[in-house]
Amino acid sequence: MADKIISRLSFFLFLASVSIAAPVSSDAASDWTVYVDPFIGTAGPDPNSGANSGDTFPGPTLPFGVVKLGPDTTEFDPSTNAFAGYTPDGNVTAFTCFHECGIGGGSKYGVVGHMPLLTLEGVNVLDNMTYMQPRKGMDRASVGYYRSDFKNGITTELAASRHAGFIQYTFPAGGDRIVLADVSHNLPSLAEFIKSQTYSNGQLVVTDGGRGYHGWGVWRGGWGSDYQIYFCNEFDSTPESYQYFSGPWNAPDSPPSPSTQVFFSNGPGIQGGPEGDDMGNRIGAVFKFAENTTQVKSRIGVSFISVEKACNFVQQEIPSWTLNDTVEAAKKEWNDDVFSKVTTTDKKNTTRLTMFYSGLYRGHQMPSDRTGENPKWNSSEPSYDDFYTLWDTFRCLNSWYLLVQPSRAEGMVRALIDIWRHVGFAPDGRSGNFNGKVQGGSNADNVLADAYVKGLRGGINWKDGYATMRKDAEVTPPPNHDPEDPTCANADGRCALPDWLEYGYITPNFSSSVSRVVEYSLNDFSLSQVAKDLAPQDYQKYLKRSGNWKHQWNPHMTQYNFSGFLGPRNADGTLITIDPQNTSYTTEGLPWEYSWTVPHDIESLVSIMGGPELTEKRLDIMFVPNLRTADLGVGVASGTTLYNPGNEPSFFTPFIYNYLPGKQWKSVRQSRINININYFTGPSGLPGNSDAGALDSWMFWQMLGLYPVVTQDVYLILSPWFSDISVTVGANNATLRITAQNLSEESFYVQSLKVNGKEWNLNWLTHADIANGGHLEFILGPNTTVWDTGDVPPSPGHQ
Ligand SMILES: *[C@@H]1O[C@H](CO)[C@@H](O)[C@H](O)[C@H]1NC(C)=O
Ligand SMILES: *[C@@H]1O[C@H](CO)[C@@H](O)[C@H](O)[C@H]1NC(C)=O
Ligand SMILES: *[C@@H]1O[C@H](CO)[C@@H](O)[C@H](O)[C@H]1NC(C)=O
Ligand SMILES: *[C@@H]1O[C@H](CO)[C@@H](O)[C@H](O)[C@H]1NC(C)=O
Ligand SMILES: *[C@@H]1O[C@H](CO)[C@@H](O)[C@H](O)[C@H]1NC(C)=O
Ligand SMILES: *[C@@H]1O[C@H](CO)[C@@H](O)[C@H](O)[C@H]1NC(C)=O
Ligand SMILES: *[C@@H]1O[C@H](CO)[C@@H](O)[C@H](O)[C@H]1NC(C)=O
Ligand SMILES: *[C@@H]1O[C@H](CO)[C@@H](O)[C@H](O)[C@H]1NC(C)=O
Ligand SMILES: *[C@@H]1O[C@H](CO)[C@@H](O)[C@H](O)[C@H]1NC(C)=O
Ligand SMILES: *[C@@H]1O[C@H](CO)[C@@H](O)[C@H](O)[C@H]1NC(C)=O
Ligand SMILES: *[C@@H]1O[C@H](CO)[C@@H](O)[C@H](O)[C@H]1NC(C)=O
Ligand SMILES: *[C@@H]1O[C@H](CO)[C@@H](O)[C@H](O)[C@H]1NC(C)=O
Repeated sequence: MADKIISRLSFFLFLASVSIAAPVSSDAASDWTVYVDPFIGTAGPDPNSGANSGDTFPGPTLPFGVVKLGPDTTEFDPSTNAFAGYTPDGNVTAFTCFHECGIGGGSKYGVVGHMPLLTLEGVNVLDNMTYMQPRKGMDRASVGYYRSDFKNGITTELAASRHAGFIQYTFPAGGDRIVLADVSHNLPSLAEFIKSQTYSNGQLVVTDGGRGYHGWGVWRGGWGSDYQIYFCNEFDSTPESYQYFSGPWNAPDSPPSPSTQVFFSNGPGIQGGPEGDDMGNRIGAVFKFAENTTQVKSRIGVSFISVEKACNFVQQEIPSWTLNDTVEAAKKEWNDDVFSKVTTTDKKNTTRLTMFYSGLYRGHQMPSDRTGENPKWNSSEPSYDDFYTLWDTFRCLNSWYLLVQPSRAEGMVRALIDIWRHVGFAPDGRSGNFNGKVQGGSNADNVLADAYVKGLRGGINWKDGYATMRKDAEVTPPPNHDPEDPTCANADGRCALPDWLEYGYITPNFSSSVSRVVEYSLNDFSLSQVAKDLAPQDYQKYLKRSGNWKHQWNPHMTQYNFSGFLGPRNADGTLITIDPQNTSYTTEGLPWEYSWTVPHDIESLVSIMGGPELTEKRLDIMFVPNLRTADLGVGVASGTTLYNPGNEPSFFTPFIYNYLPGKQWKSVRQSRINININYFTGPSGLPGNSDAGALDSWMFWQMLGLYPVVTQDVYLILSPWFSDISVTVGANNATLRITAQNLSEESFYVQSLKVNGKEWNLNWLTHADIANGGHLEFILGPNTTVWDTGDVPPSPGHQ
């Protein structure tokens, strides 16, 4: 392990000296972007490969931005996939406007593509393999800026506003100056072919003698489903000539056959096929600029509604032809809206600052704020897309928005409720304007309940909010005939509701019956918490259902001297005894892990596990190396412990020590180990998929010394990593200051704590303790102490 760490750190030093050459503002005191390395999480353990990476997106984007402009690269290993477009070692096939950040499911987007070329000789414009370009060294990136140098001498620089991108091509001496606009380009999905999106149809119309072009593309299938995007591009000069091209549709993810003919034409425009045609021709255009042109600039707007909106976005958002203006505007927005909300005077450790601020950066890229850009229905509600997925983010990222970005949290909650209004169900995952994939429960319920219990009101219609949750809890979603899971309608709601309602548990007739049982339990707990206020008649019913996980507790399942785990159960009531590492009934986790995930009722859990001592021992064994024998699959697992720091089901586990009297120090120890062995600066710095910022929020909460218990107004207390850090909280921008005396690499155990001036012996806080600002004064030391002599955190689901 140590070797790996050293090589990752030294790789970062190398990176820091060569690759973060972005413009640095002179006002460094308030420019927190200097601590952001957009490449963290773009590589796996091998920094030169995207295999097993965090799938993070390194290109320019704004907080919750629609446009995520970046390179798409070749990747031929199906298990690796270029989920966010970028891989360290692939060749560039285009720079495209839409990406996701940190996803591990099917690839999505990689659309509205542009590629600079030096020649058309040997190029088949329908086949990216004939013009893809290797790069010279690492690409460079900083917040708002991206640069890629091709071996052929072309440099491409990128910047982005909310709905538009700025691309600046600099050509070397010699050769042609060509920009290829490829409407058919999109990210292939080699891993999950069934979820692969494909180009379907498009239109492109050149205007102004070649100075501009606009059009649309339609892409089908994929995670989520079909979507149409309009674009509008403007160059800073008029090309010498241009040509449209088109060619017959090809099977997705395979090169065109040698006999495929390419047609070139000069207009008046080109369309792949009649509107609505599923298999239009591939289309695009090539623009050739004069020989004396060294630089070509392109500003391109995109919209889900119309070409007009796409064109207006360019004019409104990128009025200048100076790339740096757009870079600076993006930096300002990130500083104002995200980074300046968490400021520290403790700046001695740049590595730590880089981990922390880069984590915040990744935690605010998704979902995409598509307010005003919803093509499916007109509404005055905010619109968000790319919840990829709530299964990942509900555990702690959404709670972060509630505390620090309350107006964003409000917008997301309203958007989720509006999706229920118009689609019938709130999503668990959603992308491309379609509810995508349910991996377990209906976890929008948890996000809504968390917001409700923490008092978020604003413009939220909570009557509809509760109706949204009730739909999940009472109405079985219609079958969606997903070939990947014939047992479950997995686009919406809770497929296993028939079992849940009939038996009070889930039979193996439905996939993931063991992980679904804990998720449905927490979902119903969520309902109970909102019902308490808004539908008191439902409160007892849902509270009772939130205990259903106990019906699948199997005392005969045994491993490593521990007995009693969550397991499968037949319709006739018989428990099926399996190995607690058997993954046949879970999603991305072991029964060992899922047996902990009932945050609403740890009191019952401790009791069913045989009391505090046995629970402590069982927690201890979760972190012992080499006990995991099951293969959780590529991109899911990290490390060798039963607890898996690379994926969400284990997020809560290390902090359960807080529920055992006097054991908070063990949560602190585990949290320290966790961050120290799993998070780094540099491309290999994440232990798994970022998952839309979920894994990153897990880290930055721990570094603040707090962890939210989702669906309760409770935060567990850990131990801070900065000696003085201030967080802007709540709608009134109050300051929560967290200070830590005597913090060092050896000294991080809590000795004592004051909360808002009062001596504190609880290892938890309520939302009210910090939501209006306040001061947490920690005194730390190298020795463990039992300072948490007060009550353990609540278990409001206990009956
Ligand atoms: C970009 O603009 C900022 C602010 O005006 C300036 O400090 C910086 O030097 C500029 N960078 C480049 C590369 O021109
Ligand atoms: C990248 O392109 C180079 C030169 O064209 C080629 O040799 C190499 O195999 C390509 N690699 C990938 C990963 O596409
Ligand atoms: C590039 O071409 C390959 C081979 O035809 C294809 O599988 C892939 O989908 C194409 N990539 C893009 C981004 O269009
Ligand atoms: C390029 O040459 C054309 C004439 O061929 C001239 O009008 C134009 O100003 C030149 N552009 C530059 C950047 O030198
Ligand atoms: C700086 O922080 C990193 C990350 O927490 C840690 O690994 C390193 O030991 C720290 N360096 C010093 C000198 O404290
Ligand atoms: C939204 O309203 C506009 C303007 O009235 C209309 O053109 C458009 O079709 C509506 N969109 C939907 C999805 O109903
Ligand atoms: C569950 O599966 C069993 C065995 O395949 C079948 O007999 C039974 O009808 C199923 N139950 C339901 C509720 O679908
Ligand atoms: C289980 O208990 C036996 C007997 O006490 C002991 O030898 C063994 O090491 C224990 N296993 C683990 C994983 O702790
Ligand atoms: C899990 O247990 C079931 C039932 O005993 C068995 O059929 C299946 O093969 C096991 N799966 C694994 C991965 O061990
Ligand atoms: C809080 O700060 C934001 C800027 O981040 C500002 O827009 C808002 O008006 C402030 N709210 C209050 C109540 O001061
Ligand atoms: C502060 O930490 C140092 C070691 O870093 C330790 O020697 C000292 O006892 C600590 N002070 C307190 C009050 O715990
Ligand atoms: C910490 O523990 C060690 C060993 O028990 C002891 O020598 C030392 O005095 C303790 N330090 C503090 C600050 O209590």
